[in-house]
Amino acid sequence: MRNAEQDRESQQLWSPDDIAWDSIRLDAVDRQEELFYLVTVASFIEITSDLYTRNLFEYFIDDTEITQWLEHHWEHEELQHGHCLKRYVQKAWPWFDWESAYQGFHAEYSQYCKLDLLEPTRSMEMAARCVVEMGTASYYTMLNRLSTEPLLCQLTGYIRDDEVRHYKHFYHYFLRYRDREGAGRARVLRALWHRLKMIDGEDGLIALKHVFMASHPGETFDMRIYRRLQKRCRHAAAKYLPLQMSIKMLIKPLDLNPHLQQLALPVLKRIARYILA
Ligand SMILES: [Fe+2]
Ligand SMILES: [Fe+2]
Repeated sequence: MRNAEQDRESQQLWSPDDIAWDSIRLDAVDRQEELFYLVTVASFIEITSDLYTRNLFEYFIDDTEITQWLEHHWEHEELQHGHCLKRYVQKAWPWFDWESAYQGFHAEYSQYCKLDLLEPTRSMEMAARCVVEMGTASYYTMLNRLSTEPLLCQLTGYIRDDEVRHYKHFYHYFLRYRDREGAGRARVLRALWHRLKMIDGEDGLIALKHVFMASHPGETFDMRIYRRLQKRCRHAAAKYLPLQMSIKMLIKPLDLNPHLQQLALPVLKRIARYILA
């Protein structure tokens, strides 16, 4: 039987109507080009969540608790993130043609998002989903700290809380399938590492490419431009990333004992800072 706390945990606590869209302070986003890229790329990826949901839904088709949560909560919330971020981009940077840039992104990205990209076992897929939600929770925490525009702070705060809640759900399902499948730590580590390597993957590259091309008509996009933009965005974001939180969420599925966790945290934090530098 579910209790009130569980019901609260499964429900989204905000809606787009809670945001005073016309109160945006354009002067606070004017000269932050990195913010434009970071928010617009996120809007593309979030609004395309239905491709992921279809994959996941088919993978867990006989587990109705999971499929119902994916269908009635998770997908709805991810799409809402995308729609609200899109609305924000259109308010903050009205010169940018979001629709046509997104069409280009969707046509290219949908080629990559296939069912066979999922992990070989359900416990590993749930561990991988924890990495994704850790990534998004960290991303919106960073955006929330980076932005000086109040409306964006409010929106990214809402989305961050949703992503943390998604993480908790996937973690709960991970534990279920880990026990059922008898998945050992080595297998879980492999799934975490595999998904972590994909965080900087095709979706970010393709999204950045289409955002750049739509905002720089006539210019060619190549890997040199991609690395330059990526470096600029990373530089702007690095000091606002919640490293401690990210690493704790990342290693939680490994179920390390508290002593080992205390030893691992500062080492991993240093490695993360080195990678981001
Ligand atoms: Fe999201
Ligand atoms: Fe999420």
